[in-house]
Amino acid sequence: MAEACVLSESTDGVLRLTLNRPDKLNALNRQTLTELHAAFDRARTDSSARVVVITGAGSKAFIAGADISELAGLTPVEALEFSRFGQALMTRIERLGKPVIAAVNGFALGGGMELAMACHLRVASATSKWGQPEITLGVPPGFGGTQRLARLAGRAVALDLCLTGRTIDAERALALGIVHSVHSPDQLGAAVDVLAAQLAASAPHALRGILDAILIGSEGGLDVGLDYESSAFAVCVSTGDMREGTSAFLERRKPAFTGC
Ligand code: COA
Repeated sequence: MAEACVLSESTDGVLRLTLNRPDKLNALNRQTLTELHAAFDRARTDSSARVVVITGAGSKAFIAGADISELAGLTPVEALEFSRFGQALMTRIERLGKPVIAAVNGFALGGGMELAMACHLRVASATSKWGQPEITLGVPPGFGGTQRLARLAGRAVALDLCLTGRTIDAERALALGIVHSVHSPDQLGAAVDVLAAQLAASAPHALRGILDAILIGSEGGLDVGLDYESSAFAVCVSTGDMREGTSAFLERRKPAFTGC
C-alpha cells in the first residue's frame, strides 16, 4: 500500500491532518487530494472532531502548490477534471460546518495558498511565504485562488498577486488580511493549540451557525445572510448548549458545552 500522504490524529476534540510529502514540499498530487477529500468527509460526520487543524510535515513548507510533475502531463480534459477535483476539496473544507485552522508553517504557494484560504482561520509562521505563482507556469490558479483571494483581500490584491506571481511574507499577508496571526516558528504549534482548544470547547451548533451565516451572507447577499442568521440563532436557542451557556453565566462558572 502506498504511504499515506495525509496523516491523521485526533485528541480532545481536535482532528489534526498533516500533509506528509516533505521531500516534495507537500505538493498536492492526485493521491494527496484524494486522501484529503476522504479525511474531510470523515471529519464532517465525526462528532468527536469539533475542530480541524491542517499543517505540512517538515519545517519548510505548508504546501508548495499542486504537484507540477503531474500538471506537466495533463491533457485539457484532464486539467478540467483536476481543477474541479481541487476546487471541490476547497469547497468541502470551506463548507465543513466546523472550524478549520490552517497552521501555515512555511511555503503556502499556489494550491497551498488556495487550501489555506478555504480554511476559516490562518495562523502563520513568521517564516511562511505566500503567493499564487501559477502565472510563472503559464496557467492561472485552478483551485479557486482567483475567487477566494479577491473575496478575502480585495480585487486589487488578487490582481497583483495572481498577475505577477510574486511571493509575500507573513507580515505582509497579515497586513492584507489574508492571515489572522503570525508567530515565531517555535511558537506556531502552541498558538494553534490554544486556538484549537478554545474552539473545541465551544458550542458546535453555534460555531456552525457562525461559519454558515458568514459564508452564506457573503456569497448570497445581506438579506439571505440575515435570514440564515435568524434561523441559526433560533435553532441554537433550542440546544442544551444554549441552556448550559446562559446558566453558566448566571451561576458565574465556566460552561461545559457537549454539542447537545
Ligand atoms: N510540485 C512538485 N514538486 C515540487 C513542488 C511542486 N509544486 N514544489 C517543490 N517541489 C519539489 C522540488 O521539485 C524538489 O524535489 P526534488 O528534490 O526531487 O528535486 C523538492 O520539492 C524541493 O524543492 P526545491 O525547489 O528544491 O526547494 P527550494 O527551497 O529551492 O525552492 C520553492 C522552494 C517553493 C521556492 C520551489 O520549490 C518552488 O518554486 N516550487 C513551486 C511553487 C509553485 O510554482 N507552485 C504552484 C504550482 S501550481
